[in-house]
Amino acid sequence: MRVLVTGGAGYIGSHTVLQLLKSGHEVSVIDNFSNSSPESLRRVVELAGTGVNIANIDLLDEGRMQGELLRFRPEAVIHFAGLKAVGESVAQPLKYYRNNVAGTLNLLDAMDAAECRTLVFSSSATVYGESTELPLLESTPRSATNPYGRTKLHIEEMLEELAASDERWSIANLRYFNPVGAHESGMIGEDPQGIPNNLMPYVSQVAIGKRDAVQVFGNDYGTADGTGVRDYIHVLDLAAGHLAALDYLADSNGVNVWNLGTGSGSSVLEVIDAFARVSGRPVPYRITDRRPGDVAESYAHPEKARLDLGWKAERGLEQMVEDMWHWQEKNPDGFPDLDSNKLDPQELRNFVLGNSGEKKRPKKP
Ligand code: WQD
Repeated sequence: MRVLVTGGAGYIGSHTVLQLLKSGHEVSVIDNFSNSSPESLRRVVELAGTGVNIANIDLLDEGRMQGELLRFRPEAVIHFAGLKAVGESVAQPLKYYRNNVAGTLNLLDAMDAAECRTLVFSSSATVYGESTELPLLESTPRSATNPYGRTKLHIEEMLEELAASDERWSIANLRYFNPVGAHESGMIGEDPQGIPNNLMPYVSQVAIGKRDAVQVFGNDYGTADGTGVRDYIHVLDLAAGHLAALDYLADSNGVNVWNLGTGSGSSVLEVIDAFARVSGRPVPYRITDRRPGDVAESYAHPEKARLDLGWKAERGLEQMVEDMWHWQEKNPDGFPDLDSNKLDPQELRNFVLGNSGEKKRPKKP
């Protein structure tokens, strides 16, 4: 199947593109590289042994996005592209609404014009707000506690109303819990820009010696060890969930929602201990105040995805940490810097595909 992937050079996007290519799909990636590097896709092509279309296109560039969809004629779209830093969204809400919500509107218009109405949307457990009803069900009431989370909630609601207005749409809202880990090769992984907002990449940078100590945001929660508990899910399991959802949408209409989580939680201190054990490095930490907006616990009820999609997470915390550490050790400074905006479309294509500029196309499934 021809699949267009927005944000396909990013952390979850690149791992999903790899699995799409290995499954024989033909993939076109659009990405503005604001929080990713073409290097991730170059490595994906190397790992997959097949080519990928790539275009430096911003969600807000309606004309070029339309052009790519009319050229590539995707049969489905997986939509990862979006800003996702909670703190930044509080400081710059309009930037988040414009990029995430208006950008998604542009994508939906372009899909409609290209007669493509099958969409997998990268949603988030953040739409459950500060719900204390655990485990979180797809039917758990939604709310938003910050502009980032509200953009995800608004997009979910837009998609529900779009599907209600036109039965030709087939949509999956995938609510990720806490994506972590990396491909077992250590060639692709999470490469946060600047100071990591999230726990796992921060701990990894402490273990490799880039940061002094982990700040544990509060140890007075009502959890076993007092620190925050989250449902960490391996990025390869997450990617597999996207392919399972894509298969399901081939024979369905309307909007479907699935939690993509393991169903079990790990505390901050458990994550730190796992990293120290796996890396053999000290991981110093200090207890600080709670971070505003954090909930004590969050973990999924994963049963719906298992029943509908035949999908469940296979990898545990130890594997997540091992793969994350392998990526970190091989890439202590993440992907090499590359100003992708200096590459014209052909140069970008040649860079990703290798100097020859051509890779054999995968056979269609
Ligand atoms: C996990 C736990 C912190 C950092 C966020 C977004 C969510 C999704 C995943 C995009 C919490 C604690 C963290 C640190 C710490 N992103 N922590 N010290 O907040 O569950 O979810 O990322 O979709 O939308 O909200 O993840 O990794 O930031 O925090 O103690 O330096 O680690 O308090 O308990 P979170 P996180």
